[in-house]
Amino acid sequence: MSDDPLHTRLCDILGSELPIVCFTHCREVAVAATRAGCFAVLGEALRSMEEIERDIGWVRDRIGSNFGIDLVLPARAPRDATPEEIYAEIPAEHLAFAEDIEARFDVPAPTNEVVLRKWGGNNQKIARAQIDMVLESGVPVIATGLGAPDFLFDEARARGVKMIALVGATRQALAQAERGADMIVAQGYDAAGHTGGVGTFSIVPEIAAALPEVPVIAAGGITTGRHLAASLCLGAAGVWTGTLWLTSEESDVDPIVKERILAADGDETTRSASISGKTMRVLRCPWTEVWDAEGAPDLLKSPYQMLLTSRYLQGANDARRPDLMTEAVGQGVHFVRDERPVAAIAASMADQARDVLGRFRAR
Ligand SMILES: Cc1cc2nc3c(=O)[nH]c(=O)nc-3n(C[C@H](O)[C@H](O)[C@H](O)COP(=O)(O)O)c2cc1C
Repeated sequence: MSDDPLHTRLCDILGSELPIVCFTHCREVAVAATRAGCFAVLGEALRSMEEIERDIGWVRDRIGSNFGIDLVLPARAPRDATPEEIYAEIPAEHLAFAEDIEARFDVPAPTNEVVLRKWGGNNQKIARAQIDMVLESGVPVIATGLGAPDFLFDEARARGVKMIALVGATRQALAQAERGADMIVAQGYDAAGHTGGVGTFSIVPEIAAALPEVPVIAAGGITTGRHLAASLCLGAAGVWTGTLWLTSEESDVDPIVKERILAADGDETTRSASISGKTMRVLRCPWTEVWDAEGAPDLLKSPYQMLLTSRYLQGANDARRPDLMTEAVGQGVHFVRDERPVAAIAASMADQARDVLGRFRAR
């Protein structure tokens, strides 16, 4: 048995030195986090098949095969309609409301391809092709938020691939464990991205108690070593972190957005369904403020709302307008205050957690 309080069963399962999972869309961050002792999960939900293949190869060339891929695959992905066909079904009232926001805030038209249209959650064929690509690639871990189709669990099990399910409620955790999830990410309300209504401090011990056999990974607002130490005390086997890495030196987040994140506090984020149709924590922006104000039309369900939003987001990003841009950011952003190398971020989180846990032992 290791004397290191940070050596948990998650380290043994994932083959990492630290019980820290780094979720990132940036392959440079994934490589640096792995070298720093974390386990990296690369978010590929918005990438084309060629991009997924290219990214897996790029990361593998640098650190070998021990990393994971995250896809967002709602269990009830819509029919086989193309994103264009789905877009054409958006009600005129909603299109007009979106156009009004674009006019009011002077949102430029996109100059690049609209990225959200590639999302696997839009279309069963895209989702299936993404899954096949990732399974074929031989990565040892696949993570999914918002559920996943049954065949993914079956095929992952047959190939010895470990499945991580991100959940925002205990009933979802029980259902995903029943389907064969090997690890559960108990993600609190504090988290960046799609998230439920229960805070990290409540959901982590609740799920850990409900599923004592399954390693539970705490997520949501975890940006310091104190958060890591607290997560272990709450019954988690480790932490899953996203916001923490967005402003790292290696991160490819637009420097304009990095600046906003470095200056932001938790209350500058909002948990809004206006981006994707499902509650998602992001930095406040005109789109979230207007849709969430009184008088807005009822929000559409995913993927309709997501496709409706995609033009605004792409226009804002292409024009690099800080007043319009947004990003998924969690409430722990208060502690993300400087641009540092990934290795320094991981080391200070681990050092602080060991220090805090050590002081308890000394008492
Ligand atoms: C910029 C960004 C994009 C995200 N995109 C995804 C995604 O595509 N798939 C996913 O499962 N989770 C996604 N998440 C959520 C993370 O996996 C993670 O659960 C969350 O960041 C944890 O909360 P924290 O940011 O407070 O650490 C995203 C998070 C961030 C910060």
